[in-house]
Amino acid sequence: MACQNKVQDKVAIVTGGASGIGEATALLFAENGARAVVIADVQDERGKKLAESIGSDRSTFIHCDVIDETQVKSLVESTVALYGHLDIMFCNAGTLSFDKQTVVDFDLDMYEKLFAVNVRGVAASVKHAARAMVEGGRKGSIICTASVAATTGGSIHTDYVMSKCAVLGLVKCASYQLGEHGIRVNCVSPGAVATPLICKAFGMGVEEVEKTFESTSCLKGVLKLKHVANAVLFLASEDSEFVTGHNLVVDGGFTFPQSSQFNS
Ligand SMILES: NC(=O)c1ccc[n+]([C@@H]2O[C@H](COP(=O)([O-])OP(=O)(O)OC[C@H]3O[C@@H](n4cnc5c(N)ncnc54)[C@H](O)[C@@H]3O)[C@@H](O)[C@H]2O)c1
Repeated sequence: MACQNKVQDKVAIVTGGASGIGEATALLFAENGARAVVIADVQDERGKKLAESIGSDRSTFIHCDVIDETQVKSLVESTVALYGHLDIMFCNAGTLSFDKQTVVDFDLDMYEKLFAVNVRGVAASVKHAARAMVEGGRKGSIICTASVAATTGGSIHTDYVMSKCAVLGLVKCASYQLGEHGIRVNCVSPGAVATPLICKAFGMGVEEVEKTFESTSCLKGVLKLKHVANAVLFLASEDSEFVTGHNLVVDGGFTFPQSSQFNS
């Protein structure tokens, strides 16, 4: 049985925490002894319900659109005011373009909207979390959600792939710059997991998504939310205390066969 106190007494923020990977991770942080889990999202009803289910003594929902730096700054400041400091920032809010974004038909307005969430939003979240950790003297952990798409590329989601490559670049710079403060910055790169985002993008239900992607990994089985949340928990906890600048791919070997084609 897994140890249940991996983030004992830690104060965590999860952006995009109302749904999917963020929701699963917020719950796992709470199960693992976090003193406080702040759910930050634009989905107020879902976010409030989740915070209530964790308990009003140790979870709060804060409406935050990560596109708006002022809201991100206020999110971090409110967390510090409520709980004293910040230990863990999971920069996870993200979106997809729901129309095809091939290079020849690239809709640059759509690309800018996507970059506002997936790149600007993550940069603002890393920036204000890092400031709070440095000012508070906390050797915190910042985790960003990238994607296997940053490694594989893709046939239609050009803007999404570009945005996740940008997240990898941000993590490399931030980990380098914040190392002297003892602050770690890593990212998790999931393969396809059946969240509302992916179900909407593919126009499928959970089971259909899982069936579609089951054969893409070399590891037998299906990628579930808990697999991604467990990887984030590892990066948030002391178990990874000397790991920084790392891209933890959680895809059951989906990307591995492509890079090992030379062996065949
Ligand atoms: N599901 C997958 O297969 C998969 C694979 C790789 C990476 N990812 C990444 O995982 C992250 C989480 O996505 P998910 O699959 O759990 O989807 P999801 O839709 O279930 O969750 C995303 C959450 O982000 C929130 N959000 C969107 N825009 C926001 C904004 N401007 N400000 C604040 N919150 C905002 C949404 O309201 C939602 O609650 C994203 O960064 C996504 O790119 C997902």
